[in-house]
Amino acid sequence: MKVTVSLIKADVGSLAGHHIVHPKQIEAARENLKLAVETGLITDFYVFNCGDDLELLITHNKGEDNPEIHGLAWNTFKIVTDNVSKPMKLYAAGQDLLSDAFSGNIRGLGPGVAEMEFEERPSEPIIVFAADKTEPGAFNLPLFRVFADPFNTAGLIIDPRLHKGFSFTVLDVLEGLKVTLNCPEEMYDLLALLGTTGRYVIYKIYSREGLIAASCSTTRLSLIAGRYVGKDDPVCIVRTQSGLPAVGEVLEAFAFPHLVAGWMRGSHYGPLMPVSLKEAKCTRFDGPPRVVALGFQLNNGKLIGPADLFDDPAFDYTRMKVMEIADYMRRHGPFMPARLGPDEMEYTTLPQVLEKLKDRFEKVK
Ligand code: F6R
Ligand code: MG
Ligand code: MG
Repeated sequence: MKVTVSLIKADVGSLAGHHIVHPKQIEAARENLKLAVETGLITDFYVFNCGDDLELLITHNKGEDNPEIHGLAWNTFKIVTDNVSKPMKLYAAGQDLLSDAFSGNIRGLGPGVAEMEFEERPSEPIIVFAADKTEPGAFNLPLFRVFADPFNTAGLIIDPRLHKGFSFTVLDVLEGLKVTLNCPEEMYDLLALLGTTGRYVIYKIYSREGLIAASCSTTRLSLIAGRYVGKDDPVCIVRTQSGLPAVGEVLEAFAFPHLVAGWMRGSHYGPLMPVSLKEAKCTRFDGPPRVVALGFQLNNGKLIGPADLFDDPAFDYTRMKVMEIADYMRRHGPFMPARLGPDEMEYTTLPQVLEKLKDRFEKVK
């Protein structure tokens, strides 16, 4: 029997600004998804948050892009907004629900979606990632390292089952195009794309036999709404072990706190901090950007877990480094490259400033 894992997220309001999801929001989402288990629509679920983003992890047998499953997630976000976020006057209630009408697929309406369908192996360990104050391209670097860099993933060299490498499907989020590149042969071409994190984003990763190994959310709210309405904090699902990277090889890539876009007002770069669920809340300068990793075993579609994988002193050193880098970046104040370039900023006054100064600009002779 095939199982589908759907990880669907939205920011539908939060406590103390864009800081953290309120427990009552999680409770309301759980109640609605519990009903869906009882009616047999879904097999299992787990609700959690990373900062101000509410994450719905759902297992079912209906495949990707299923209208009933996407409808369930949409209604859950609506219920949380209407029954909790709005009555409690939480901040930015319903922020990511950009449309009033659901029309069969949640993609393009605001929430982020990562999904994969596969035949459950005799033992099926998966990791789900959720990040806050960043964008889908934030996963490019660590996922490249997990599935293509032998200095990260020992199995690429010493496990015959990983030795052939992996295929990466990359989306051009500006043009709405996708391309699949094979590693290791096309590694340089792949990196030429992946380095432009705001435009080329890893969508899916497959084994060379076609086994799905990773799936990421790729929506950019800016483009959906025609203007920048908020960073589209990303989610990602990774299958592990037995011919795929080990759990530890997947986590290893997050020990290096790389710089990602999306800190304060979606307009600054900051280091990505791996944290436990307890620490998945953004504070300093609305950050630094954070990522959580939850491990599960699938058991005929049921979710056994989670294991809160970054809840470990093994990541203390990374977190210390994050704060060192955060200090360094913040000392740049409003200067690039700590601040994003003008095309990528969620907030800007540049057009108004230029308008105000237009008569004072003189030709340089
Ligand atoms: C970044 C983020 C926050 C807000 C900032 C201003 O993605 O969510 O940094 O951009 O707190 O928010 P408003 O404009 O709602 O006051
Ligand atoms: Mg928010
Ligand atoms: Mg967020």
